[in-house]
Amino acid sequence: MKAIRVHNYGGPEALIYEDVPEPEPKADEARVKIEAIGLNFIDVYQRTGLYPLPTPFTLGMEAAGIVDAVGDDVTEVRKGDRVAYAMIPGSYAEYAVVPAAKLAPLPGSIDAKVAAGLMLQGMTAHYLTQSTYPLKRGETALVHAAAGGVGLLLIQAAKIAGARVIGTVSNEAKAQLAKEAGADEVILYTQSDFLAEVRRITDGAGVHVVYDSVGATTFDKSLDCLRPRGYMVLFGQSSGPVAPVNPGILATKGSLFLTRPSLNHYTLTRAELLERANALFQWTAAGKLKLRIESVYPLQDAAEAQRQLEARKTTGKVILIP
Ligand SMILES: NC(=O)c1ccc[n+]([C@@H]2O[C@H](COP(=O)([O-])OP(=O)(O)OC[C@H]3O[C@@H](n4cnc5c(N)ncnc54)[C@H](OP(=O)(O)O)[C@@H]3O)[C@@H](O)[C@H]2O)c1
Repeated sequence: MKAIRVHNYGGPEALIYEDVPEPEPKADEARVKIEAIGLNFIDVYQRTGLYPLPTPFTLGMEAAGIVDAVGDDVTEVRKGDRVAYAMIPGSYAEYAVVPAAKLAPLPGSIDAKVAAGLMLQGMTAHYLTQSTYPLKRGETALVHAAAGGVGLLLIQAAKIAGARVIGTVSNEAKAQLAKEAGADEVILYTQSDFLAEVRRITDGAGVHVVYDSVGATTFDKSLDCLRPRGYMVLFGQSSGPVAPVNPGILATKGSLFLTRPSLNHYTLTRAELLERANALFQWTAAGKLKLRIESVYPLQDAAEAQRQLEARKTTGKVILIP
């Protein structure tokens, strides 16, 4: 089968489209014939070695498709089931083997591209707003990179929770998308000081929670956007890793909470995984959540798709087709 593998960490040129043997499922695994692959920023971190995997490895952490073989002990799915999954390496390929317990069965209303677009970024939006900091009606959230893959879904999940959402984006076209997704206020953080804008919008009170995936360039000011006892949820580093933090600043800035969550720890059991995935499928079927698929690339053009993502040129979800 064809797959995209990384032999040496590096730039997009490190992605090699090549022939590899079809994987065989172990006793607790299913093999998925992949129909659609989700592109995510974590793919960039793994390609560059920021999150190292032993080389060579097949890139990609999210896909949807059809179960085409199962191991002897598998009870969760059967051959022919439509499924999707996230956070299992190896999805940039025609087939992948996945622990069966990590597969979410798809309802008929959810097609493969939508499923491949919802699992990783959608479950992230779900856990951030429902579990990491469970947003309450009337509270205010600041969402950075609000027109990105996670960003557009995070705005909608926060609105479903009843919150007021302030988004930050780098240009007018992205601002329009964030507004269409439901953001109450949008700040162009490349043109104005987002801290001053947040203070103005909240009449000096600050926000209850900051969802910050941008990292290096936003972290310090994000802390200053919070009201006393606010939650700083750092969940990524698209602009680079955050420098080490002295916990004392959490006291001086208002007895703040700081967490650095990861989707893996919010889908620990099959029950938790299915609860989050099914909530997303139901929100989507009910028209409460809309996934914006911005572009669809053939798998062999994954390097170009990653270039666009790293250059801040994408909005919403990018899908690869094997
Ligand atoms: N912890 C978790 O569980 C978890 C799960 C999923 C994703 N994440 C994180 O969430 C973030 C978003 O992921 P995504 O896949 O949805 O990507 P994305 O948001 O679609 O793309 C990244 C966005 O970050 C913004 N950005 C700001 N400075 C940047 C820079 N120097 N270089 C590149 N981008 C920059 C850009 O938006 P503007 O142009 O508007 O600034 C860009 O479009 C990533 O950091 C990812 O690691 C974390």
